[in-house]
Amino acid sequence: MRILAVCLGNICRSPTAEAVLRHHLPFAEIDSAGTSDWHIGDAPYPPAIDAAAGRGYDLTTLRARQVTTEDFAAFDLILAMDTKNLETLEAMRPANAHAKVKRLLEYLPDAETREVPDPYYTRDFDGTLDLIEAAVLAMKTDF
Ligand code: 4NP
Repeated sequence: MRILAVCLGNICRSPTAEAVLRHHLPFAEIDSAGTSDWHIGDAPYPPAIDAAAGRGYDLTTLRARQVTTEDFAAFDLILAMDTKNLETLEAMRPANAHAKVKRLLEYLPDAETREVPDPYYTRDFDGTLDLIEAAVLAMKTDF
């Protein structure tokens, strides 16, 4: 199973999801990417690194990259952090793409939202981590 987590910048939500997925699904191949090119090559945002470190996840070695059309062949599942990311992914999806594309919070049907809030704007890094951890734990039972 190859899983790609996708957000806008690839410096807050998707690197966090990458680390949480890797921890809980150790036999899967996990990566993350951004829909934008704004932070290519950058390490995750320092407050996201700190929040994740507080729960035992190491984001320090991760570097941002932009999602490509090749990702639709290289991964089995692409997990969008919000609906805007999903729409961007659907618009670039090759006609006979292999990967399934879903929002991460579709694995958490009882959550009141399908959007993982962007802590770059909300500043609630722990709230975002709570949602990502809950969704990944729910996903785990599917594998
Ligand atoms: P992310 O958060 O999509 O969770 O990585 C963002 C990080 C940076 C920016 C936007 C969102 N930015 O505008 O630079």
